[in-house]
Amino acid sequence: MTTTAKPPAVGVAHSRVEGRDKVTGAARYASEHHFEQLAHGWFVLSTVARGRVRAVDDEAVRAMPGVVAVLHHGNAPHVATDYVSFLGPPDPTCAVFQNDRVPHAGWPVALVVAETPEQAREAAEALVVEYDEEAHDIAFRADRPDAYVPDQGSPVAAKGDLDAELAASAVVLDATYSTPEQHHSAMEPHAATARWDGGRLEVFDSNQGSMWVADELAKMFSLDPASVRVRSEHIGGAFGSKGMRPHQAAAVMAATALDRPVRVALTRRQTFAITGYRSPTTQRVRLGADHDGRLRAFGHEVLNLTSTLRPFVETSAALGRVLYDAEAHHTAHRIVELDVPTPTWMRAPGEAPGSFAVETALDELAERLGMDPIALRARNEPAVGPLSGLPFSSRDLLGCFTEGARRFGWADRDPRPRTRREGRWLLGTGTAAATYPSGAAPSTASVTAEPDGGFTVRISAADVGTGARTALTLVAAEVLGVDPAGVTVRIGDSDFGPAWVAGGSMGTRSWAWAVTSAAEDLRDQLALRGQDVPPEGLTARVDTARLLAELAKKERHSFGAQFAEVAVDVHTGEVRVRRMLGVFAAGRIVNPLTARSQLVGGMTWGISMALHEEAVRDPASGRHIGADLAGYHVAANADVPLVEADWIDDPVPGDPLGIKGVGELGIVGAAAAITNAVWHATGVRHRDLPLRPDRVLRAEEAGQGA
Ligand code: MOS
Repeated sequence: MTTTAKPPAVGVAHSRVEGRDKVTGAARYASEHHFEQLAHGWFVLSTVARGRVRAVDDEAVRAMPGVVAVLHHGNAPHVATDYVSFLGPPDPTCAVFQNDRVPHAGWPVALVVAETPEQAREAAEALVVEYDEEAHDIAFRADRPDAYVPDQGSPVAAKGDLDAELAASAVVLDATYSTPEQHHSAMEPHAATARWDGGRLEVFDSNQGSMWVADELAKMFSLDPASVRVRSEHIGGAFGSKGMRPHQAAAVMAATALDRPVRVALTRRQTFAITGYRSPTTQRVRLGADHDGRLRAFGHEVLNLTSTLRPFVETSAALGRVLYDAEAHHTAHRIVELDVPTPTWMRAPGEAPGSFAVETALDELAERLGMDPIALRARNEPAVGPLSGLPFSSRDLLGCFTEGARRFGWADRDPRPRTRREGRWLLGTGTAAATYPSGAAPSTASVTAEPDGGFTVRISAADVGTGARTALTLVAAEVLGVDPAGVTVRIGDSDFGPAWVAGGSMGTRSWAWAVTSAAEDLRDQLALRGQDVPPEGLTARVDTARLLAELAKKERHSFGAQFAEVAVDVHTGEVRVRRMLGVFAAGRIVNPLTARSQLVGGMTWGISMALHEEAVRDPASGRHIGADLAGYHVAANADVPLVEADWIDDPVPGDPLGIKGVGELGIVGAAAAITNAVWHATGVRHRDLPLRPDRVLRAEEAGQGA
């Protein structure tokens, strides 16, 4: 076997290696694995928002056709809940049927298992559950007296005297912004199939980290970790919602109790109840600047909600700690516990809602200063981390703005609002900054030289639709000096060992690190052996924990500049995005084809966030109104015009990989660019998302734009 030099694989557009399998139906998703004796579990979710389950009248349901079991708190086996998983303390929601308490509407109270999904559903809908209902409280408001500063994460970061600097500022902005509850809405709803096979538990799932789910299941059911295997080969979207969830636990519980394979697949409505969501936020931003636009004061206080089960912080104040410096800098998080499900990470957790507030506030400040919004950002560009004092690994926010402004035609813009008209439409343009952390986490990977001349990579990475499998194929091919067609990447299997999850935009960077190291190791071994591959193959395996620990401490982030042009009909309230451009600095781009797709996808989420998405709960029942893709609006094709994403060179000196992430960056700032464009079109500031037609109309009627 020879490893003759091949043209570079990394940086060259490559279509998805599993694309053919996906379009021909050969790719199997979580609910498409069939087994003899497969039974189907169907969740029964609480209809009350707070109280206790008094009785589950399962006798009649047990006699229904095909029903084999009804699991609930009265008969379910005890599971562990006091463990710490791969990613910290578990969400108590996942430990199903452990007590009679109902902490929110949509809480799993029973699982009906039957021979067919139809029988299970029929019986689940017939099950009568009696509750002792208690008064619930789901009112999320900025002035909640019971809001508190959480003791986790970095709730407060501060330097200087904010009030003093505000008082000394020539121009001050003090404004409150809000974002609503939003849902991930992955195309593929959650599903898991669990079975015992020769003393091992095997779960076919749809998740962002098979190791994560395997680790939780082993701890929850007190199993030897080696006896648990979780596989998740193909995933139809995740966006933060596909970690450990109640359906995997319920499937394992039922498969164990019945000693036969059990599948639990969620309906769309059930995904709204038990798979997490993005918390609503209210955010107060205070900015104080000199006449030349230099910030003296930067304040950002964020409130989000959480459940009574577990504190969850939507870290929206984090991006200000990276983007802008000021004499006094104060950012803080508070949370309030309500009778609602626990929120979770959702694409660009923190940065997505946070950037709406901060990047709108910057635009408002620019208006008051009579300054171009890009010039205002350039004036406040920090040399080092504003609070950490650490150097940036690389930072080219201004390069993004310069290139974006050139391509978007920003120089031709009349800064005065409400000056462009086209028939019934008022036209405007807006811009906003984007940033997202570019971290890495320890992972293990193996690379095997096969006797037939091919190579196999094994890593428990997850391709949630991002193109991660293809990116890792290119990375391995590049190091090995072979054509990507000669590399097979196997992912989504906890048996491949610990690896970071598809999350925090850290997947590609973390996994590529492990794959690169293992491939380099293998390449060296092969060179020593004169390229001789033994009949059983030759494998190199690495764990990057030590390599990562040696990495210099720096501010590591990706950056971007968002531009949007909108048309607003102030007589109907209709807002149409006409075009968007995002220019990003995101390190070395592994696969331009799928990276562009990620960024365009994120920007499309930004349109959706700006104009459409809003989950509404009925205060009386505590339940969602319209928890489906008819009632919960997401941007559809007709809402998404020309969305263009591109990037500038962003070398990361001293970084062995130079790769950053692109999974979340595209949504950051996108909604603010759109609402800033709406201000430019109409002269009205909108500080509450989504920008529904009624909000546009009411602002117009109030004469704010005139
Ligand atoms: Mo992503 S929201 O970090 O899973």
